[in-house]
Amino acid sequence: MASAHQRALDLHRARYGTTPTRVASAPGRVNLIGEHTDYNDGHVLPLALPMRTVITVEPTEGDVVLTSESFGEATFDPDNPASDSVGWARYVHGAVELARGEGYGISPWRGVVTTDVPVGASLSSSAALEMAALIAACLHGQSPEPAALARLGQRIENEVIGLGTGIMDQLVSAAAVDGAALLIDCRSLETRPVPLPDGVAVVVVDTGTRRELETSAYDERRADCAEAARLLGVAALRDADPDDWQRLEGRVAMRARHVLGEQVRVAGAVEAMIAGDLVTLGRLMDQSHDSLRDDYEVSGPALDAMVSTARGLPGCLGARMTGGGFAGCIVALVTGDKVDSFSEALAAAYQAPAAQPSTEPVAVMAVRPSSGASSELVT
Ligand code: GLA
Repeated sequence: MASAHQRALDLHRARYGTTPTRVASAPGRVNLIGEHTDYNDGHVLPLALPMRTVITVEPTEGDVVLTSESFGEATFDPDNPASDSVGWARYVHGAVELARGEGYGISPWRGVVTTDVPVGASLSSSAALEMAALIAACLHGQSPEPAALARLGQRIENEVIGLGTGIMDQLVSAAAVDGAALLIDCRSLETRPVPLPDGVAVVVVDTGTRRELETSAYDERRADCAEAARLLGVAALRDADPDDWQRLEGRVAMRARHVLGEQVRVAGAVEAMIAGDLVTLGRLMDQSHDSLRDDYEVSGPALDAMVSTARGLPGCLGARMTGGGFAGCIVALVTGDKVDSFSEALAAAYQAPAAQPSTEPVAVMAVRPSSGASSELVT
């Protein structure tokens, strides 16, 4: 199939009979390690996927007019509130509303939306849409810097959509660098590219299970972490010492043990990547999954089954769930010369647990870390 970029150009011409002036796009992400640490002001180490969401831009007067390849059409007046729009269009309308509210010059446009990011698979299709929409909305004025872009995207999630998510997905989609994972300090929003060592591949595996971001479970975990920080007398769990969970009790102690351990694992993963120590990197990913499953309790039967199947195959250095949890994708670290055999064997060996059958095809994708949101002139 043609790329989302090419399909967007073709669809724009077919729909409007014209050529867009510019194309905005932004990638989905997979998180290598550092899960559920972003809203604790901690560190995360995601990378941008080669799959992108693309929005074409042809300036117009009046309304914003959009055609999505798979999800219908939407038209909105930028003067109306984003809450007037529904579904995917609310993300774009939210981008227009918030960027304008911050003083960025918005020009109405007509365009199309295409994506190669699987929707609802924990690969941040919504962050990709938010970043692409912000770039499209600001194209004819001054565009926000990556950190400001990410903050606006997070505000779309928090204020317009109503989900209390952190900053990781938006910031990696905005600021990622080709060939590298991005170490993000979720307090200062400083980023640092950490190149993927030679001889290894990142393999994303979609279990074919889907769950809306579990709002209630996500909010409960956030509340547990806030409670842990309060009991420890720190602003956020990022400020606690690795052993401080021992001063807590029960569920809150388990949540804190995950977050504090994960902070140490992210630092270890960065060191291991710089040193080319793939065995340690894989081991830390394994430990991250086990902690998310046992202490943070955000894994699920399908994610656990895929992780243990992957770990049993030759070439697998480590495997873990990725993203918010409960359903969607895992990420595996695989030695470079074994990627093809691993991918084939995993697709063949995976048995969906009866408790959580796949509703979409299982897919195994070796991914190159890719660059962040961008726009280009159509010539
Ligand atoms: C979702 C959220 C992120 C982050 C992850 C868990 O993807 O959008 O902000 O909290 O879950 O690491």
